[in-house]
Amino acid sequence: MHDSFACALVLAGGKGTRMHSEKPKVLKTLLGESMLYYVYNALRPSIGDDIFTIVGFGSEYVEEAYPEMKDKFVLQKEQLGTGHALQQGWDQIKASGLEYCLVINGDTPLVSSKAVSDFLEAVKEDGADLSFVTITPKDPCQFGRVIRNKAGQVSAIVEAKDYDESIYGPVTGEVNAGIYCLKISTVDALLGKITNENKSGEYYITDLVDLAAQCDMAVTAVDCGDSVDLMGINSPYELAKAESTLRMRISEKWLRSGVIIHNWESAVIGPLVQIEPGAELTGPCELYGKTTIASGAVVQSHVRILDSIVSENAEIKAYSHLEDAKVGPECSVGPYGRLRPGAILEEGSKIGNFVEVKKAVLGKGAKASHLSYLGDSEIGAGTNIGAGTITCNYDGKNKFKTIIGANSFIGSNTALVAPVTVGEGVLIAAGSTITKDVSDGDLGVARSRQVNISRTSQKS
Ligand code: UD1
Ligand code: CA
Repeated sequence: MHDSFACALVLAGGKGTRMHSEKPKVLKTLLGESMLYYVYNALRPSIGDDIFTIVGFGSEYVEEAYPEMKDKFVLQKEQLGTGHALQQGWDQIKASGLEYCLVINGDTPLVSSKAVSDFLEAVKEDGADLSFVTITPKDPCQFGRVIRNKAGQVSAIVEAKDYDESIYGPVTGEVNAGIYCLKISTVDALLGKITNENKSGEYYITDLVDLAAQCDMAVTAVDCGDSVDLMGINSPYELAKAESTLRMRISEKWLRSGVIIHNWESAVIGPLVQIEPGAELTGPCELYGKTTIASGAVVQSHVRILDSIVSENAEIKAYSHLEDAKVGPECSVGPYGRLRPGAILEEGSKIGNFVEVKKAVLGKGAKASHLSYLGDSEIGAGTNIGAGTITCNYDGKNKFKTIIGANSFIGSNTALVAPVTVGEGVLIAAGSTITKDVSDGDLGVARSRQVNISRTSQKS
C-alpha cells in the first residue's frame, strides 16, 4: 500500500522522433497496451493517485487515452527537454505537500511496481536529496553516462552526445535509467539553474545531479545492474525487443498456471487478459484488452480477440476475429468467423465460416453456419440460419432490428429487410426477400415463381 511519502511525475511530453509517428511515443503499444499504461501501473501501488503527467506533443491523444488521469496532466507547450518538462510540473509537485517526487520517463514500460517500491524504500532509508536509478546494460546505447568520483560517489550524468573521454575518462558502461527521486524542499533551489548549454540545446533533468553535487547535497545512485526492464524505448527495434520480452513472460506465467499453449513463443497475450487453467491456445493467436478465456475453451491459431468473453468449452476456430463479443459455453465460432461489438452467442450456438455478427444475440443452440451477416438482431434458440442469409439492417440513414423466434428455419440466401419480425417455428423459403412479419408456425415465401420455357419451341 502507498503511504503518501512521494508523488510522481511522468515525463510524456516528447515526440519520440525515431518512431516517425503523429502520436506521442508513450502511446505506442506493447501487447495492445500503451507504454503509459505500464508506467502508471508500476507507479500506482507505491504512489496511489498522486501521479502527475507532463504532456506536450500530441497531448490530445494522451488525454483521450487516459481521461481518468487528465486532471493531473501538465501541458508543456514547447518540448525543450526533460529539465524543462520538470520545471513545468514543479508548482503542482510542490502543491502536493509531499516530501519527495519520483520522476520517471514515460518510455520505460517494463519497469515493475517492485522496482519502484524498492527504489522508494532505498530513498526513505538514506534520505538523499536526489537519487536516481542506474543500469549497466550490455550496450550503453545513447543513454546518459553516469560519472562517479574516485570515492565512487556520483558527480554527474553526461549525455552520450556530450560525452568527451578526454574530460570524463573511458565510459564505464553505467548509465542513467531515467528514474529519479527528488527531495522537493532542497531540489527547489536547483531547478532554475538548469541551462541548455549542451549539444542538443535542451534543458536536461540530468543536470540536477551535477548541480546537487556541487552544492554538497546528498546524491545517491541505486545500481540495478543489467536489468533490461529499466531500458528506455526510443525506436521501433527497442519497442519490439521489449514487447517480445514481455510476451514470453506473460505466456510463461499462463503456462505455469495450467493453460495449454501450443507454439507458445508466438502467442500474443495482453497484460489484462485472464485465462483459466485448462484453456487451450494455439499460437500464433492474439488476445488483447480485457479478454477472458474460460477453462476447456479452445482458441486456434491466427485468431484475434479483443475485450471479449469466451466461456467454458467454447471453440474459436482458426482465423476468427472477435471484438467486444460474448461467446457462451460450448459455442463454436469459425473458422473465419467475425464477431463485432455486441455479438452475444448463447450456450451451444454456432457461427460458421464467413459469418459476421454485430449487436446480435444468437439464442441457445442457434446456428448460422455459412456466409451470413446478422446485425441488430435477435435469433431465437434452436433457429437455423441458412447460408447466405442477410439481415438488411440499414436503409442508408438508420439501423433497424430483425427479430426471429425460436426453432425457425431460414432458408438459404434470405434477405430479411428490417424492421421485421419472424415468429417461432417459421419456415422461410430459400431465396426470399422478407419485408413483412411472419407469424408463428407459418411458411414465408417471397420470391418469384420459376418459369421454364422450352428453347427448342422458341426457335421455330
Ligand atoms: C533520457 C536521459 C538519459 C537517460 C535516458 C533513459 C535526459 C536529458 N536524458 O534520455 O540520461 O539515460 O532518458 O531512458 O533526460 N520528454 C518530455 N518533454 C521534453 C522532452 C522529453 O516530456 O521536452 C519526455 C519524453 O516523452 C520521454 C522522456 O521525457 O518519455 C525522456 O525523453 P527522451 O527524449 O526519450 O530522453 P532520452 O534521450 O532517452
Ligand atoms: Ca528515452
